[in-house]
Amino acid sequence: MRSKIIIANWKLNGNWSFNEEFASALSKGLKEIDLKDRQIVICPPNVYLQQMNGLLLEKSIFLGGQDLSDELSGAFTGETSGAMLKDFGCRYVLVGHSERRERHFETLDVIVKKAVNAISAGITPVVCVGETSEQRQNGMMKEVLSEQIQSLVTGMGDQIDAVVLAYEPVWAIGTGETATLEQAQEAHQWLRSEIEKVNPAIAQKLPIIYGGSVKAGNAAELLQVADIDGLLVGGASLVPHEFLSICLAGL
Ligand code: PGA
Repeated sequence: MRSKIIIANWKLNGNWSFNEEFASALSKGLKEIDLKDRQIVICPPNVYLQQMNGLLLEKSIFLGGQDLSDELSGAFTGETSGAMLKDFGCRYVLVGHSERRERHFETLDVIVKKAVNAISAGITPVVCVGETSEQRQNGMMKEVLSEQIQSLVTGMGDQIDAVVLAYEPVWAIGTGETATLEQAQEAHQWLRSEIEKVNPAIAQKLPIIYGGSVKAGNAAELLQVADIDGLLVGGASLVPHEFLSICLAGL
């Protein structure tokens, strides 16, 4: 049985006092709760990693970055390496979020390099995949996902073993339109079957989490879907009581 991972992606949100209140509410809410191997991960903006590292004291709460450089060091203004994220206590890092693919033109090759860099720094990359609404409407969902998985498998080989995959249909991100349970299961099962073709053992243990308009009201049912191993939460992760209910959903 794969354990569940719930990840908060704060994006470009948060500030010193909000972070304090959030960490205190979350730590209080999770104290003495048996999370049954469930891991909670908070991905704040990088500048707040150190602050959050000092505040998140519950042992089931981990820190994550929202992105890392595809380079290791050198003259790359504005970049943050995997090793730097590791120094600040990150155990996870998001890679290839669709907002970065769209706005920062991240290609599949760059995404592979970032995932490999995260692993060499000792951090688990949470690699985001997913189709746009146009691609879905044109019946290309499976094809798009296969291409994304293929590039990971080709570029990473067995290192894919150390990845968490996040299925994030682009049309569901920040839109309020969550994938139905059937749509989510179909995509997750497809992703798992694509990896199975290359390595059945890895496919069985690889966590595949769902992201796209997850809320307190739909978290429990999503977590019950057979191939959903966790949730990646954007907007709802900024409301402490809402995120807390998501962390506890279905326990
Ligand atoms: P959302 O974002 O929950 O606001 O849809 C999810 C994400 O971007 O990871």
